[in-house]
Amino acid sequence: MMSVRPILVVAGVGNAAGTGAATARVFSKAGYRVALLARNADSLNNLASQLTKAGGEAHPFALSSYAPQAIRDAFASIRKQWPKEQGNEIRAALWNTAAAVWKPFLEVTDEEVKESLDVNVAAAFAFSREAILEFKNNDLNDLGKRGTLIFTGATASTRGNVTTSAFAVGKFGLRALSQSLAKEFGKENIHVNQAIIDGPILTDRQRARHDATWEADENVRLDPESIAKSYLYLANQDRSALTWELDLRPAHEKW
Ligand SMILES: NC(=O)c1ccc[n+]([C@@H]2O[C@H](COP(=O)([O-])OP(=O)(O)OC[C@H]3O[C@@H](n4cnc5c(N)ncnc54)[C@H](OP(=O)(O)O)[C@@H]3O)[C@@H](O)[C@H]2O)c1
Ligand SMILES: *[C@@H]1O[C@H](CO)[C@@H](O)[C@H](O)[C@H]1NC(C)=O
Repeated sequence: MMSVRPILVVAGVGNAAGTGAATARVFSKAGYRVALLARNADSLNNLASQLTKAGGEAHPFALSSYAPQAIRDAFASIRKQWPKEQGNEIRAALWNTAAAVWKPFLEVTDEEVKESLDVNVAAAFAFSREAILEFKNNDLNDLGKRGTLIFTGATASTRGNVTTSAFAVGKFGLRALSQSLAKEFGKENIHVNQAIIDGPILTDRQRARHDATWEADENVRLDPESIAKSYLYLANQDRSALTWELDLRPAHEKW
């Protein structure tokens, strides 16, 4: 571990019970400082104080929206909070935000198409740009890398289905971005990953759609903490054996 704790930036924390928050917890325990980005300031503040109480260091950076400028402003605030000149380095970044639109094609509105492209693709472009600019300024760490950028994907990243036209174009787009960045910046020892989450995650939203048997059955849903552990594993890979795409699904998923 470096003398100053490396920083993880997480975008997409939601109500602090899903994958974004679990990743913040797991990386915090592993010695990272965490910059929390999302729109819900209260939930960011709560998570930041939880992490701090547990012996970590975390700071909330509430976004007014996922507009590219709002994301750039958040990175400017992170640099102010933890200045580079004092040895602070962003070493990992997770793009976990997604705008999920699940509707038959003929019911999808122009606004929903735009929202999917704006949030799932354009906002991810802005986030990636800031993360990569930071990584380019880092020296190689003991793993031979300058930084690790992870994207949370979904089944809809590789397969369309009957109600995913608007969502899948966004997630396919995100996957295309991830692969392009992995190839363009691999040469600079920047590690870009895509994790295809191929099954339902145990979030409060999914709990509301299922019964208690589903929640109790570890064979049928992904635990956010287990996903987060895989993200830490990706960040810990060294330059001689790097994953671009990882897929994760529960044991009984009918894939
Ligand atoms: N839940 C599942 O079953 C499942 C399955 C496969 C893949 N995934 C993927 O996992 C990631 C989310 O993880 P999670 O489900 O565990 O939830 P999570 O970590 O709680 O995060 C979801 C984030 O997405 C943002 N979001 C939701 N709707 C949005 C919208 N319409 N516009 C902009 N932002 C929106 C929220 O941002 P704010 O905090 O700013 O509101 C929230 O932070 C997504 O990339 C999703 O595609 C989820
Ligand atoms: C595709 O959609 C159908 C109908 O909603 C569903 O039963 C099936 O599980 C979906 N397939 C995948 C791979 O998600």
